[in-house]
Order: sequence, then C-alpha cells, then structure tokens
Amino acid sequence: MLTARGIQKHYAQLHVLKGVAITINRGEIVSIVGSSGAGKSTLLHILGTLDTPDSGEIFLNEIPVHTLKGKKLADFRNKQIGFVFQFHHLLPEFTALENVCIPGWVAGRRKKEVQEDATRLLKLLGLGERLENKPTALSGGEQQRVAVARALINKPSIVFADEPTGNLDSKNAKELHDLFVQLRTDFNQTFLIVTHNEELATMSDRVLHMKDGLIIPPNP
Ligand SMILES: Nc1ncnc2c1ncn2[C@@H]1O[C@H](COP(=O)(O)OP(=O)(O)O)[C@@H](O)[C@H]1O
Ligand SMILES: [Mg+2]
Repeated sequence: MLTARGIQKHYAQLHVLKGVAITINRGEIVSIVGSSGAGKSTLLHILGTLDTPDSGEIFLNEIPVHTLKGKKLADFRNKQIGFVFQFHHLLPEFTALENVCIPGWVAGRRKKEVQEDATRLLKLLGLGERLENKPTALSGGEQQRVAVARALINKPSIVFADEPTGNLDSKNAKELHDLFVQLRTDFNQTFLIVTHNEELATMSDRVLHMKDGLIIPPNP
C-alpha cells in the first residue's frame, strides 16, 4: 500500500535522511523506533506529504505522491492520510465533535453525513458522552482519542502517528495502543507509528529501527 525508496532530506548542511526505503502493507501496524535526532519525524512528515524529500519516490496505493502539488496534494492528503501527533493539536474553540468533523467538511462531504460518522467514531472510541466538550474540558487520553477520531474521519488509507503516547501516562498509553489494534482488527486500518514506548512497539506487526538517517536491520 505504501512504498518509498531512496528518500533523502537535507536541512542546510545537515543530511537528515540518507536514502530510506520502506514498504507497508494494508492492515499492518508498523512501528519506527530510534534515538532522538535519527530522522524519524522527518521521515513521517515526508511520507505523510507534510514535507518534501530532496530525492526519492513515494507511492501510496500506486499513486506517485512525490509528484503531487498544490490543491491536488492538499486534497490527496485530506482524503488519504490521517495524522496523530504527540500533542493533539485540537482546535480549542471547537467541540470534540466539531474537531473531528472539520477534515470531513474540508473534504466537501455533506455536513450531516460527516456529523453522523464523527459521532459514531467518537462513540466507538468511548467518547459518546464528550461530543460537546471543548478540548480543555477533556483529559489527555480523551484529547488524544479525539485526535485519533479526527485522523479517521475521511477513512484514510494510512494513519501516521508521531509519538502519540509521548504525552500520556502509562494507563492512557496502553488504552491508545489497544485502540490502534482494535481499529486494525475491525477496519483493517494501516498505521505507521513513531514511538519510544516499548510496549507499543512490541504489539506492532513489525518494528523498524532508525539510526542516523537510515532504517537499519534490527540486531544485526
Ligand atoms: N525543519 C528543520 N530544520 C532544520 N533541522 C531540522 C528540521 N527538522 C529536523 N531537523 C533536524 O533533523 C534531525 C532529525 O530530526 P527528527 O526527524 O525530528 O528526528 P527524530 O524525530 O528521530 O528525533 C535533527 O538533527 C533535527 O535537529
Ligand atoms: Mg521526532
């Protein structure tokens, strides 16, 4: 479903990605681990089209993502890709329900249909009682689950998560893992997750190790 090869990225003199290749199958949960500064976030942003590589190719469902630009790219990202970050980045002025709906409305879908989908998703994630709450009224774990619902609203091909449990206590982190697994089991949802959390890495189908701008074979 996702294939990238030869991904290179420099920030000025800094050679951050040195020719990364990666393949993710549909319905897989893949984790990326590695020390701080290894280039994990940069890779995730590039695969998620939030940043562009200096060279290399990325195919998502056979679409050459690296050739998309402007409105086509924004449209593709909105419909095909979901993101969950360490900090939820929910919009503080909007309710949980509205936060989840917004990417659906941006996609031009019917308002009511999006609202129904968002309500169903939030209920599925255990937030049925919190639809009308603004982010500040929610716990850290709840905020992150709203962010997951928002990532899923347009039924993306893949969800990229960058240290999604980095800001959660161990109980909430565990609940978020279980949620990812449930979404994979129930909807065959594909995930690529950057994490420092050993437990989250262990429950993945595959763990990729990143070091100095490359994915390295584990325990060579
Ligand atoms: N926008 C940027 N401008 C300059 N340097 C950056 C930028 N983003 C990341 N870097 C640098 O690239 C390297 C890899 O960063 P990052 O991908 O965030 O690593 P990781 O997520 O593995 O900790 C680091 O040395 C970081 O300082
Ligand atoms: Mg990072």
